[in-house]
Parts: sequence; C-alpha cells; structure tokens
Amino acid sequence: MRQMTMVGFLQAQNCTTLASAWRHPDARTDFTTAAYYQHIGQVLEAGKFQMGFFDDRLAMPDLYGGNPAEVVANGVRVVKMDPFACLMAMGFGTKYLGIGSTASTTYYEPFDVARRLQTVDLMIGGRAAWNVVTSVNDGEAHNMGRDVHMEHDARYDRADEFMEIVLNCWDSWEDDALVVDKKSGLFAHPDKVHRQEYDGKYLKTHGTFTVPRSPQGHPVVIQAGSSPRGKIFSARWAETVFVAYHDIEEGKRQYKEFKDAIAGHGRDPDKVTVNTIAYPVVGETRTEAEDKMALIESLYKEVDGLSLLSEALNFDFKTKGMDEAFSEQELEGMSGMHAMRNRVMQVIGRNPTVRDFLNVTRRGRTHNAVVGSAKDIADQLEQWFTERACDGFVIAGTHTPGTFEDFVRLVVPELQRRGVYQKEYKGATLRENLGLGLPERGWWK
Ligand SMILES: Cc1cc2nc3c(=O)[nH]c(=O)nc-3n(C[C@H](O)[C@H](O)[C@H](O)COP(=O)(O)O)c2cc1C
Repeated sequence: MRQMTMVGFLQAQNCTTLASAWRHPDARTDFTTAAYYQHIGQVLEAGKFQMGFFDDRLAMPDLYGGNPAEVVANGVRVVKMDPFACLMAMGFGTKYLGIGSTASTTYYEPFDVARRLQTVDLMIGGRAAWNVVTSVNDGEAHNMGRDVHMEHDARYDRADEFMEIVLNCWDSWEDDALVVDKKSGLFAHPDKVHRQEYDGKYLKTHGTFTVPRSPQGHPVVIQAGSSPRGKIFSARWAETVFVAYHDIEEGKRQYKEFKDAIAGHGRDPDKVTVNTIAYPVVGETRTEAEDKMALIESLYKEVDGLSLLSEALNFDFKTKGMDEAFSEQELEGMSGMHAMRNRVMQVIGRNPTVRDFLNVTRRGRTHNAVVGSAKDIADQLEQWFTERACDGFVIAGTHTPGTFEDFVRLVVPELQRRGVYQKEYKGATLRENLGLGLPERGWWK
C-alpha cells in the first residue's frame, strides 16, 4: 500500500519560517546548541519521519528599510547558522532519520558542495540530502561578494551546469572502486575512479573528485522550484520535491502536471515524491487547537511580513506606502521568487499594493494552517494524499520543538492506525526509506 512521506521543515536559526516562532512561550531558546538539534531529530525519528531538512538563505532579511536594526531587534529570521554543521549534530544524535541541507548553486562552487555533501553522507551512514536552491536576493549577493543577484532564469541555467558537475563528481568513484588492500598494496582501482573535464557557459572544472561513494551512493537531491523555469529544473533533477500547494484542487492539477513532466524526462514519476508544506496546529480537542492557534496568530508583527516579503521578492517594501500600487517596472524588476509574485498578481487581478502582497502571501504567518484534533488533521492529510494532491508533507513549525512534539504524539499514531503512514523505518539509508534504489552512475544523463 502506498504510504505518505513525512519531512520536518528545519531551520538552523532562532525561529521557524514564522519569524514570530521565537516569541512563542514554549519555544526553546537554546537554538545555538547541538542539544537543541539533537532533540528535534530524536522527536522526528520517534515519529518515523523519513527526513528533516534545514532551509537556508545567505543573508538576514535586512533589505527592508536598508539596514538590519529593525529585523535584529524583532528577531526576524536573523540568526542563520551553517546548516551543514547543524545537520551533523542532528545526524550524530539519530540513527534512521534522513537529514537534508540547503545549498545554493548561485553562490557556492560545485566541487565544494559535492565534496561537503558526500562527506556528510558518509559520516551519517547514507542519510544525507541536498535541497538545491538558486537563492533569492541581493542581500545574499552582497554577503557573497557580488554586486547584484543574478537574473531569475539565468540562475537556473547556471544551476543546470552546477548539477552536471556535482553529479559527475558523485559518479567519479564507482561503487566498488575503493579496495584498501594492504596486502596487495592496492588502495583503489585506477580504472574505477574517473576524471572530469567540464567546460560550461557559467562553470568549469577539471580534475578528479576526492570522496568515494556512500552507503546510499550519493545524497538524495531535493528541489523546490515553483516558477515555470524552476519546475523544468525540478522535473529534470529532483529525486524528492517540495511544493507549497494552496488548495487541494490546485494541488491535484499541479501534482499531475509535475508527474507528467518527470515522465517527460524519461524518469519514473512514482519514485519522485512530491511533498507539500503543512502547518498543523493540533490539540487534544478542536477547541484546544483553536486556542493554540489564537496564541500563535497573536505573536505576528507587521515587520515580520514586510521584511520577509522584501527578502523573498528582492525589493524593499519600506519604500512603498501600504496602499500604493506597484508599477509595471517595479513588478518586472522583482528578481526573487517569481512564483510568489506571479500568484499575487493573478489573485489580485490589477497591480497589487503592499497590503495585497501581505494578504495574499501571508508571509510571516501560517499558510492554510490545519487546526484541530488529531482526527481533523489526519482527515485532511489523508484526503490530500489519497486524492493525489501530494505524496507527503513538509511539516512546518509554528514553534519548536512544540509543533513536532505535538504532531508526533497525537497525529502520527492516528495516521499509522489508518495504514497511510509507516510504523517502522524500511532501512538504514535515506534512499531505502524514500523507496529510491541505489543511484546508477549517470542516471541523470
Ligand atoms: C518546502 C520549501 C522549502 C524551501 N526552502 C528554501 C530554502 O531553504 N532556501 C531558499 O532560498 N528557497 C527555498 N525555497 C524556495 C524555492 O527553492 C524556490 O525559490 C521558490 O519555490 C520559488 O521558485 P522559483 O525560484 O522557481 O520562482 C523553498 C520552498 C519550499 C516549498
């Protein structure tokens, strides 16, 4: 029987995707310690989550107002530690949980990313994944020594080359290349370790990769592009996909379109799981959950929404009045997340204002939170899953570790009872737990 995938949406920072999460009375404040990440990992593992993944961005959302004072004072996603280090801490405190980290194809070098991820995958026994992002804004460009953020579609063209290099690196060592036979003196088969000669439009590399294959071959590739260009990229490369479908009907349509696109690349669509974001707020009773939700909503501040919009769309929202419409030129110039901008324009049907952006995107607030008892939440997740609006869920926290603890304690047993969610891990590696076989060298060509 088909079963759902469960992914924890993790941050190596002071809050969840909701900037307000740190203000929650139950939120832990030791987010700079290994113990914090290990606890969250252990909770997810107790709930048989296939994976947790760390999101990332290479800057604070301080484009807003042109300086960091306001976001620092309000804690609007201002701490962003290295997600790979947090992944390792979590990995050493867990045994079965797959763990992903985000890394940018626009600001890193492919050899470096390939080596870091392959090493991490070895260190945690074949449980690593890479969330491939092309990054979104000038803040990231400035931190990384560039003047401006690259244009949207060109980022994905560069990312295609990046992927070819990374996968060539990971394919460099054949599965049985490493021998380490002291008697014969043979360390590795020279005919099974391959050199790469790559000259692209954006990137080049010439050399031989330095890390052997891992127990799962190489890390699992995750992608979450949602613009037209982003989806083409995702259908080509992703082994697991993250999406943010807004309602079940739209989800069903997009899910089908996306699976067809995967098949169009000659890949098996059943192997690539599509996981949509869900914000569960669960209580012992529906009333308790509604009270919890009221508290969560009360923690939001307008600076959260405005600075996070500025970050995502690469435009300083403080330069506009609340009810002032954006000009064509301003909308065109937003080089961040195009899918977000396009959706607001489509919903509003005229040039949107700042208030329209806040209302439609609900940036900094929950999106379609599922609020209720374990039964209410399981009903909704099961419906999305069985009607094929998704294959699984990226569980996003309203605060940590509370969201994950509540979900694992109350919702997971209900899903397991219904037979739609695993009671035990299927294997030791992330690929085994996602139903992906060992990757063949060159699968992506
Ligand atoms: C669950 C999920 C997680 C994401 N994590 C990140 C992230 O860590 N960093 C990032 O820059 N973008 C992240 N994104 C955004 C996507 O990578 C992508 O930029 C966004 O969906 C807009 O798509 P587009 O660039 O194709 O327009 C995430 C999206 C989703 C749905």
